[in-house]
Amino acid sequence: TKRVTTLTLAEMKKNNEKITMATAYDYASAKVVEEAGIDMILVGDSLGMVVLGYENTLSVTLDDMIHHGKAVVRGSNRAMVVIDMPFMTYQVSKEVAVRNAGRAIQETGAPAVKLEGGEDMAKTVKKIVKAGIPVVGHIGLTPQSVGQMGGFVVQGKNEKMAEQLVKDALKLEDAGACSIVLEAIPRQLAQLITEKLTIPTIGIGAGVHCDGQVLVYHDILGLQTDMRPKFVKQYGTFFNPMVNAMEIYGKEVKSGAFPSQEHTFTMDEAIIEKLRE
Ligand code: KIV
Ligand code: NA
Repeated sequence: TKRVTTLTLAEMKKNNEKITMATAYDYASAKVVEEAGIDMILVGDSLGMVVLGYENTLSVTLDDMIHHGKAVVRGSNRAMVVIDMPFMTYQVSKEVAVRNAGRAIQETGAPAVKLEGGEDMAKTVKKIVKAGIPVVGHIGLTPQSVGQMGGFVVQGKNEKMAEQLVKDALKLEDAGACSIVLEAIPRQLAQLITEKLTIPTIGIGAGVHCDGQVLVYHDILGLQTDMRPKFVKQYGTFFNPMVNAMEIYGKEVKSGAFPSQEHTFTMDEAIIEKLRE
């Protein structure tokens, strides 16, 4: 099967076909997303929170992203894989950003990167795109700026912020971004931005009018119980069943019920008798 590309995304927007995206962080999770026929896989820096157990995404390194990104590429074949650029790998200078975006795609085999920021990042996006690397933008709630935003809170509710977000989106499109993630903004604003852009918007907590939607793997499947934002819909509740299965395993080992004959190898008893002498 052919991979989804930036051209596929543009075509989907033109045809009013919704784009599906989910995160994945390793071979096994990528397999699940891929088997489900999801169009795009984001190796999100949410990795830091849902897989590595950090408080926020700031501790994630480019090496972490590459390590996990490689596994996701191995576990997928049709979905377009996008690698998140972690905190401080693209903010310092455009040159550093291009080099790091280059590493992200060269070392993982994924075609595209995503980075947070609007107007302020437009020149950086342009440089990366000029180097031949597709870039997905990300505006609204940008978790790498959690300190500055004062928490994981909805963005763009007042006129000034809303106006800036429209500008951010247009600047990213001008810079050559292939798509933009809109996170935690009112649906009316997301609709306006989606109408103004020719590139697809992918929403998370941005309402139904975006060209696509993205959710975190662990949130979709109900694999984590730490944090549940308003915009998350759980399509499974697999954490407890997994704990239950693990508990039964532990009990069966303790009691000797596992392993039974069916999970055990055997051999000619005579050989053992001889060795015992
Ligand atoms: O890191 C991530 O998972 C993301 C999505 C929530 C958009 O950036
Ligand atoms: Na992210």
